[in-house]
Amino acid sequence: MLGFSKRVKNPQISKDEVEQKLRHIAFIMDGNGRWAKKRGLPRKAGHKYGAENLRRVANRCKELGIKAITVYAFSTENWSRPKDEVDSIMRLLCNFCDEAVRDREKNKIRFVFLGDKAVFDSEMRDKLEKLEEMTADYEHILNIALNYGARDELVHSVNSLIAEGKESVTEQDISSRLYTSHVPDPDLIVRTGGDFRISNFLLWQAAYAELCFTKTLWPDLDEREIDRIVADFLTRDRRYGNVK
Ligand code: IPE
Ligand code: IPE
Ligand code: MG
Repeated sequence: MLGFSKRVKNPQISKDEVEQKLRHIAFIMDGNGRWAKKRGLPRKAGHKYGAENLRRVANRCKELGIKAITVYAFSTENWSRPKDEVDSIMRLLCNFCDEAVRDREKNKIRFVFLGDKAVFDSEMRDKLEKLEEMTADYEHILNIALNYGARDELVHSVNSLIAEGKESVTEQDISSRLYTSHVPDPDLIVRTGGDFRISNFLLWQAAYAELCFTKTLWPDLDEREIDRIVADFLTRDRRYGNVK
């Protein structure tokens, strides 16, 4: 199994070290459907528990001192799923936004949606934008990638630059027009569910991200495992192409 090892059993995590080294963690929240199937439940039940687990994971990451979290909630490819499943995910998202607005003063988390919102109806867009506006001043960030695809994001970035009249572009130009321009590149990308792929997530930003793959299905990812993943990340030697 690739990913985090058993090197770290009972991690002692220093918040200072996390603040320095792990400024941004990203999760590919995969495995909701299989989690439900194992229990004889419909796939949408898996998404419901998955949404609940997002709260647990976000809280733990915040407690550990991580300033920015990005989660992959719905890809540009996920629209091809059965309508019933897509509808149930969108309903869960609406409830998630309502609760996030209600609990904003308790949670103190800034929400940002990554992806093109133009596909949503005006009621849904208003909901997403209202949550972003109402939480805009909080320091801890939770980016939710929704109708997100990394290739779509790159095309969007380049088209913005063309519209501004640029004839040639720098890496900095491209980065600054991505949906993630308000956060540093992810230091660590974690995929739950046991598959070893990126599925069109943060392709540009992942250039030097550390990767972690765990078999755990997303609704089961708990505080203990997050601590082990973070502790393992802190032992990694990031060379960025250089030598010691
Ligand atoms: C991830 O879980 C959630 C979304 C992609 C919306 P899945 O629904 O992909 O669950 P599995 O991979 O089928 O188990
Ligand atoms: C990736 O999961 C997308 C999200 C977690 C939102 P998928 O289940 O859609 O990915 P594939 O199809 O296994 O690559
Ligand atoms: Mg999946």
